[in-house]
Amino acid sequence: MDPVQLKDKIYWVGAVDWDMRYFHGPTFSTHRGTTYNSYLIVDEKIALVDTVYPPFAGEMLKRIKKVIDPSRIDCIIINHVEIDHSGALPEVMKLAPGAKIYCSPRAREGLRKHFQGEWDYRVVKTGDELPLGRRTLSFIEAPMLHWPDSMFTYVKEEALLMPNDAFGQHLASAFRFDDQVDNKMIMEEAARYYANILYPFSGLVLKKLEELAALGIPISMIAPSHGIIWRKNPGQIIEAYRRWASGDWLPKAVVVYDTMWGSTAAMARAIVEGLASEGVDARLFKVSLRDINGIITELLEARLLVVGSPTINRSYLSALSPFLDDLAGLKPVNRLGAAFGSYGWSRGAVKDIEAKLEAAGLTLAGEGLEIAWVPDAGELESCRQWGRALARKIKEK
Ligand code: FEO
Repeated sequence: MDPVQLKDKIYWVGAVDWDMRYFHGPTFSTHRGTTYNSYLIVDEKIALVDTVYPPFAGEMLKRIKKVIDPSRIDCIIINHVEIDHSGALPEVMKLAPGAKIYCSPRAREGLRKHFQGEWDYRVVKTGDELPLGRRTLSFIEAPMLHWPDSMFTYVKEEALLMPNDAFGQHLASAFRFDDQVDNKMIMEEAARYYANILYPFSGLVLKKLEELAALGIPISMIAPSHGIIWRKNPGQIIEAYRRWASGDWLPKAVVVYDTMWGSTAAMARAIVEGLASEGVDARLFKVSLRDINGIITELLEARLLVVGSPTINRSYLSALSPFLDDLAGLKPVNRLGAAFGSYGWSRGAVKDIEAKLEAAGLTLAGEGLEIAWVPDAGELESCRQWGRALARKIKEK
């Protein structure tokens, strides 16, 4: 794939990783692969904005060489230290040893620890500018979006925002722009990315969106460090981030459970029937069969999360632990929760699930529902009624 021009003499020179299936270790299943977007700005000075994951350094350098000799790179902007973006920096520095590295103070600390390279660092803060000739780069710090070192780079004359991880998607594609790829797929991946990476920082996302609006800068294109570049409608992803970070919701419920011998599964199905009978879009997930990242993504729209497990060893099934642990870290915004489950000679699962839901910041929508051994017809009707009562809670503003 050749370099792809975004604007006059501004090129995508990154790499497409079709095979990446897990990101951040095993925590994020990237079922559609990913890209590492790196951008080359050719002006009186030549700037490279971010690099790529180390195994793709050669691929990136080949693309750069199709535009310029890499030794001509004057400036390297490192918006974020994480290795998928800074990992090829040592290879670039071998070819352009005189290049100056522009980054936030925390990024300089991180780069020194990662690479032990005593390079020519130029620490920048919000409002600092780097004139390249016809174009000027302006920097906007974005701490905790999603690391302390993160920052955005803005090409003023082109109204081009390069926000690194923000607004990205883990999506491998032969195309680079939003008008070339199915919009539903891009938004699905952008939502999955937000829910599984940026959710805990939603308050900061809102503040950053307000800051960008207050700066009054026009944005004609958003070029993130992963996935598709937003050139047709950059406002679409900004508005989606506002919605997700605000905790806006639809009358939707996510029911997540696991089961030993089918009692909790029967309860789960009856609860879904009760929710649906009140017009709630209820979705059922047996956690051991489903992709946890996908379930978390459903919470971007759902008002209510219902979690069920039978009691075993006085608590919930270990199959639920990865989901509940993920939830505790991601802290969905403005969500209700409830717990249910079957038990035999002792209880414990519902109480422990409720504690986990509250630790993740959810508000309990009502008392948990517990049924001994196997639910009979009357008890299944109680499950439906419990679901209907939860549905009414969803509708309370
Ligand atoms: Fe895409 Fe935070 O690295």
